[in-house]
Amino acid sequence: DMGGHDTYMHKEIHEQADAVDRVLRGRIDDRFSTVHLGGLNLDAREARRIRRVKILGCGTSYHAGMIGAQMIEELARIPADAEPASEFRYRNAVVDPDTLYVAVSQSGETYDVLAAVQELKRKGARVLGVVNVVGSAIAREADGGIYVHAGPEVCVVSTKCFTNTCVAFALLALHLGRVRDLSVRDGKRIIEGLRRLPEQISEIMEQEEEVKKLAEQFAEARSMLFIGRVRGYPVAREASLKLKEVSYIHAEAYPASELKHGPLALIEPALPTVAIVPDDDLLEKNRAAMEEIKARSGRILAVAHQEQAKADHTIVVPKNEDELDPILMGIPLQLLAYHTALTLGRDIDKPRNLAKSVTVE
Ligand code: M6R
Repeated sequence: DMGGHDTYMHKEIHEQADAVDRVLRGRIDDRFSTVHLGGLNLDAREARRIRRVKILGCGTSYHAGMIGAQMIEELARIPADAEPASEFRYRNAVVDPDTLYVAVSQSGETYDVLAAVQELKRKGARVLGVVNVVGSAIAREADGGIYVHAGPEVCVVSTKCFTNTCVAFALLALHLGRVRDLSVRDGKRIIEGLRRLPEQISEIMEQEEEVKKLAEQFAEARSMLFIGRVRGYPVAREASLKLKEVSYIHAEAYPASELKHGPLALIEPALPTVAIVPDDDLLEKNRAAMEEIKARSGRILAVAHQEQAKADHTIVVPKNEDELDPILMGIPLQLLAYHTALTLGRDIDKPRNLAKSVTVE
């Protein structure tokens, strides 16, 4: 049942405010400015002993993991990174007893992720799952974890699960932060930010008509570049994946800081750039990158917290806390991918050559 929407993708994009509400529900502890994650199976003493966090996932879940790693570093000050689960399992990675491994998967059935979890467990590592489908293989195999409670996601292209997974990571980061060195004050600030998310997502949805018009223009492009820096980079990656999966337009994501080390050579009017420009301490750097692109007559669509003079178009998204901004900044770009695909007459819920869960090697 698509409830009045023409595709599941559209329906699921619009379900995100409610979905985020669900992942937060019952987990916030205002008294101690932290969160309770019932299924984590990790006591405070163990949480304090973690020296690194390694996040493993594929596709969109890997991108959510990149955002998660960034939030864990920022809020809990634990070195963290994300890696595609398949790469991890084939490179015979060193398994370290003081590292917390986190497997991320919407379906909980992705074979590369499951195989990585099994190999880690065999070597005695502690593995958590950040999973949507309750009781799925990865959820069962993990030592504990967080359900992302996005509800069923039917479209092959993941949208609401991405957002909820990012929120689940914010909860994990806050929890780890508060058993370590994150202050009560910062804990409160993050909790307030989390509570603002559902309403801010609804505000983004109100801009759909505007995004649709932009999509109609960009649908002519043969290729697009997505750039972002630090917090914005995983957002750029995910937006680029979304566009290519559903519209079949080639798209490439790059850290904005790497532009001058190669991709600037591509810039010309026929290659539009989407720039993720959060209003944080890197704003000036991002403006400079846009200037470089303009100087080479590139066209720019910025996703930012305020109108960007350097860009040809800006989609203005509501500002949250710096650490949580990545959760919101990709959402208008889900709409952009959707409307681009619609303009091009693509099979939105079932893009060619793709399956909802990749249960083979
Ligand atoms: O179910 P999972 O989260 O483990 O799936 C991982 C990827 O296969 C998945 O995110 C894929 O990239 C989607 N098509 C993204 O839209």
